[in-house]
Amino acid sequence: MKGFSITGLCLVLLNTRISALDNGLALTPPMGWLTWERFRCNTDCERDPENCISERLIKEMADIMVSDGYKDVGYEYVIIDDCWLASERDQDGRLVPDPKRFPSGIKKLAEYVHKKGLKFGIYEDFGKKTCGGFPGSEFYMETDAKTFADWGVDYLKFDGCYSNLNDFQAGYEAMGFFLNKTGRKIVYSCEWPFYKLVSGLSVDFAAVRNTCNMWRNYFDIQDSWSSVIDIINFWGNNSKIFTKYAGPGGWNDPDMIILGNFGLSYDEERVHLAMWAMIAAPLIMSNDLRHMRNRSKALLQNRNIISVSQDKLGMQAILLQKVNGIQIWCRKLSDNRTALAFLNENSDGMPRYLKVSLEDMKLSPTRPYNFTEAFEMKIHFIIAKEDHLEMYVNPHGVQLFIAKLM
Ligand SMILES: *[C@@H]1O[C@H](CO)[C@@H](O)[C@H](O)[C@H]1NC(C)=O
Ligand SMILES: *[C@@H]1O[C@H](CO)[C@@H](O)[C@H](O)[C@H]1NC(C)=O
Ligand SMILES: *[C@@H]1O[C@H](CO)[C@@H](O)[C@H](O)[C@H]1NC(C)=O
Repeated sequence: MKGFSITGLCLVLLNTRISALDNGLALTPPMGWLTWERFRCNTDCERDPENCISERLIKEMADIMVSDGYKDVGYEYVIIDDCWLASERDQDGRLVPDPKRFPSGIKKLAEYVHKKGLKFGIYEDFGKKTCGGFPGSEFYMETDAKTFADWGVDYLKFDGCYSNLNDFQAGYEAMGFFLNKTGRKIVYSCEWPFYKLVSGLSVDFAAVRNTCNMWRNYFDIQDSWSSVIDIINFWGNNSKIFTKYAGPGGWNDPDMIILGNFGLSYDEERVHLAMWAMIAAPLIMSNDLRHMRNRSKALLQNRNIISVSQDKLGMQAILLQKVNGIQIWCRKLSDNRTALAFLNENSDGMPRYLKVSLEDMKLSPTRPYNFTEAFEMKIHFIIAKEDHLEMYVNPHGVQLFIAKLM
């Protein structure tokens, strides 16, 4: 574990020549709720009225975002993903929602969400069709941008199914241009890097950051540990590249947070949330807020972790190293603080012991640090020069600390 050069190396500075999309939005990673991971393309309201993609589902989630405290801790956007559309546009070429599932129309639904003090988001696709086979925005981008602005949309997730990979940059830039032209401030969430990277093509991340407020780089999250750790590993492998492009106005998006669903243990939920906070990811939940385990809700509403996520410097964590299957990540925070995550990837049942020096954590060994455990903020201790930080990390678990230079 020797051989580091010291001081400040947690930092991968955002290249300041790379300007962000200038719409004044997403100055910290957006927070909210989205249908996709949990409710997918369930259009069967006859058999499953409680869970189908419908205005009822969106209204119920908006209600609970407020009544159960999610709004108070910062969750703001309520977003419908795919499968809200009718199968055809109207006579004037405008998008229309499925009339059975959205009988009041999208404008009314957005008003409902706004009255709750929340913001409203929707989904489209720049190709011929959405991934679910509904009308896409190809050849209709200007019309669709206007429609969304008329409806009061505050956030657009723009997918890339049924399109040509060579058109991505021009297509996403065009929609960005039309969104801007509406004059309405709309968070622009893009899938552009993802489709290109997984096809082995290169991505101009500077152009992405200049066009989008957030962008997906990798596969959809699924309800399992293997999916969560695969995404974390992808971010670890690419952390120096991705980190350069993350900052106020634009964020790498590792996809939704899925705490409270079926697939993760409590420790795995802690890892998922802590790592999304470390990598300055948007915190967009996809889960059933109506049926939430207390402990998952408590994690989702943990203000200490949220404050790491929303730190105003907006720096994304990097993976420093792995020691015996324990990943060590650091993220520079405001006020001379550094967040440090220790993630145990091992599946053997025993918590692993780890002992690290300030050097191992890329902290300067010339000064003492005040360490605080970051979930509860109750355990504090000081580490100086020759001291070590010692801990046990549960399998598929994480320890998170905030180190403040004294
Ligand atoms: C449109 O773009 C201009 C120039 O980048 C920017 O100043 C303005 O705030 C944008 N407007 C909206 C509504 O995004
Ligand atoms: C990360 O890199 C390692 C080593 O090159 C590789 O084995 C692994 O498949 C990569 N994982 C992801 C998710 O990219
Ligand atoms: C969950 O929290 C509610 C409200 O605080 C409480 O009434 C209930 O007993 C808790 N359930 C469990 C299983 O702890």
